[in-house]
This record gives sequence, structure tokens and C-alpha cells, in this order.
Amino acid sequence: MKTSPIKILIADDIAETRENLRKLLSFDGDFSVIGEAANGLEAVTLAKRLKPDIVLMDINMPIMDGIEATRVITVEAPMSTVVILSVQGEQEYLREAMAAGARNYLVKPFSVDELINTISKTHELESERRARIMPMVAPQRKLGRIVTVFSTKGGVGKTTIATNLAAELSKKANRSVVLVDLDLQFGDIAIMLDTVPVRTIADIAREEEVDSEIVEACLFTHDTGIRVLPSPLRPEQAEIVTGRHVEAILSLLAESFDFIVIDLPQGLGDVSLTAMDAADVVCLITSLELPAIKNASICLEIMDALGYDNDKVKLVVNRPSRESSLDISEVEKTLKRTVNISIPNEGRLVTDSVNTGVPFALSNPNAKISLAVKDLARAVDPQSKGERAERGGAGRENASPRRRIASVFAGIFGFFIHG
Ligand SMILES: Nc1ncnc2c1ncn2[C@@H]1O[C@H](COP(=O)(O)OP(=O)(O)OP(=O)(O)O)[C@@H](O)[C@H]1O
Ligand SMILES: [Mg+2]
Repeated sequence: MKTSPIKILIADDIAETRENLRKLLSFDGDFSVIGEAANGLEAVTLAKRLKPDIVLMDINMPIMDGIEATRVITVEAPMSTVVILSVQGEQEYLREAMAAGARNYLVKPFSVDELINTISKTHELESERRARIMPMVAPQRKLGRIVTVFSTKGGVGKTTIATNLAAELSKKANRSVVLVDLDLQFGDIAIMLDTVPVRTIADIAREEEVDSEIVEACLFTHDTGIRVLPSPLRPEQAEIVTGRHVEAILSLLAESFDFIVIDLPQGLGDVSLTAMDAADVVCLITSLELPAIKNASICLEIMDALGYDNDKVKLVVNRPSRESSLDISEVEKTLKRTVNISIPNEGRLVTDSVNTGVPFALSNPNAKISLAVKDLARAVDPQSKGERAERGGAGRENASPRRRIASVFAGIFGFFIHG
């Protein structure tokens, strides 16, 4: 089987040397020169961007020498392997270069065979070493992205947005999405998807231990392919589901799904805070009414005190209307932050979608409201922005949410809540 050519970056300040190396390597189909750098800094930038397999690195170069560049590439572009090009009498530098992370060297002048052998052997050995250590450094655990949809007020569109966001996210091929209804007393995701669930999250909470088997058994698959963990069938069953259950369920779901979209009840409680703490993104939904804005302002303050950074919280205005006395720019001024997404009011479409049990993001993908949901999906998906998909971060300390929220309230309002 033909393997793909070894990608090479040449770093040398003499253009003629770079040209000669490029020519020598071009005779052999096993190599492909993908870039040239005239100094160490350029080599670092190109190594990060082009991800070559091998960097052929001269030692004496202006701006940043080859040894420093090797050190930076070893740490910041670890998938590239450095082979040093040195001249006679640079033994001391050579030792330093190897200590900086270079894997091999060639002493100029060298023959074509020496060049080809050194590159091939170094690459082969490195590939083998990486293949063995990769499973150790990157365990095969998937870490899905947790997105919560939250509001301080009821009826502002949390369930509508969560359901359609999950539908939108699930459109990409090879991407798995689960929608979790944590509005434990009066969750209506199942009804919105026109489904009567057999098992719910309450069945997980009844088990002695939360494991992947029971979680999987309680998910249903909607006709559209969306997987759903429904809320309990009766409000009195809500209290058996605790923050601890939620923590365990989310960590299991994050191992098997790319996105976990969570619909939350209004207001802050143990379950909501546990979910938001575990989340990578919190979508804070508000309407354009004054009380909603006041509550959103308090909520943003609390989230800030909980350590959620600006990027974790996405501010979403649902159904801004022309009749409202406030507009988006006034809201931004009051809340001192930008509104990430504004979702238009499309009553007819939303009602039809609820009646048919098919999210409008799927049935009417080009409607204005669906395009806004698409924007929200982009905002919660780091891959669409080329960011690193990173889990963890703000607000994941070990203190229980309830204790932390108490101290946050105490800090903000100057009093202490017991409990
Ligand atoms: N952008 C919109 N355009 C038109 N109607 C909407 C829009 N968003 C939500 N609605 C409607 O508003 C009502 C409340 O929406 P939804 O149930 O999603 O809110 P919620 O915040 O989940 O409410 P609750 O706090 O009761 O769980 C529903 O009738 C829904 O169809
Ligand atoms: Mg709801």
C-alpha cells in the first residue's frame, strides 16, 4: 500500500540551500516539501500552521536561531520532528539542539542518500513511538460538549430553543446529540417531540448506581434521529433526581455524545447549578421586558461570581418585538455585554412545529427563526470557529453548587444564606 509522502519544512536563512534541499527531495516521491522558512521564528509559525512531519533546521539563523526554534516547536508543535542541519565544528550547539528536542542531525555537506535515510529513519521511529504513546496520553474517552439553556423566567422559550438547537446540531454528519430535559417537574420536551416516553430520568435516579447501561435504556430516539432523556412523567417524581444524579448522568453522556443539550427549569436550584457548572456553554435566554432584563442582569452577576467566563455564557434574546419599549442596544448597554443571538418571533411556524412534533430547524431550515438557531449552534460549537474543543475550566471547583451559590449571594447582596 502506498503511504502518503513525508511532509517537510525547510528552515535555513540561505535561499540557495533551501532551493538545493527542495530539489534533492523532489526527486523522491516519498517526500513533499510543504514550506520554507528563512529564520527560526518563521519556522515556528509555519510548523504550527502547516504541521509538517519533519522540520529540517539550520542552527545559525537571524531573528531566532535553530536551537530556540527547536525548543519552541518541540513544545508547541509536538507533532513535528526536528532534524538539525549543522556544519563541522558545531558539536556544542548540536548537543544543545538535541537537548532542545531535536531527534536527529545531519552534518553539512551530506549526500542525497544520507539526507533521505536520515529523514526516513527519523520519521519511521517517531511514528512508531507516537503510535505507542498516543493511547496513553489521549485515552479513547470522548468528551462531548455540554450546552445548557437557562432563564430566570418561565415561558421565555427555553424548551423551544433547546429542542431546535439540538436538532440543528444533529444535522452535521457523524455527530451525535442528546437532548436532556432537566425541567424535572414540568418538562415538556417529550410532548414537544410528540412522544410518550416509557422511561425517564426518574428511572435512572431509582437505581442504586448510575451506569451507562441504565442511562442508555432511558433514552428514546425521536423519528428525526435525536436522542432524548425525558423528564419524569409526574412532578412528584422530580425530587428523587438530585444534583449528584445529574453530575453522574452528564459525565456518562459526555463520554458517548458529541453534544449534550440541556433544557433547564426557570431559576437557580441544585440541579440547574450542577448542570451549568458542568456545562461548557450556558445560553441565558431573556425577553425584552424590563423584569426579564433586571433578572438577567442579576443572573449574569452571579455567573460572573461563580467564575463562568464571558465566553461560556451566551446571551440570547427571544422574540424581540417592535412594540417593546426596549431595544437590543439598550439591553446591551444595561447588561454591559453583547447579545450573542436574537431569535425572531415566528408564532405560526413555532406552533406548527409543536403540533407536528418536528423541530422547525429541520422542517423549515431557511425560516428566519431557524437561521437564528443556526447562528446559536455556531456560537456553541468551537469547531465552527476553529477554536480548541476544550472541556472544563471555569466554575468546576469541588464545592457543592448550593454552598457556592450561598456564598455568591452573600457576596453580592451582603447577607448570608444558610443551607
Ligand atoms: N421565537 C418564538 N416565536 C414564537 N413563539 C415562540 C418563540 N419562542 C417560544 N415561543 C412560544 O412561547 C411559548 C413558551 O415557550 P417555551 O415552552 O419554549 O418556553 P420555556 O421557557 O421553556 O417555558 P417554561 O418555563 O414553562 O418551561 C410556547 O408557546 C412557544 O411555542
Ligand atoms: Mg420549558
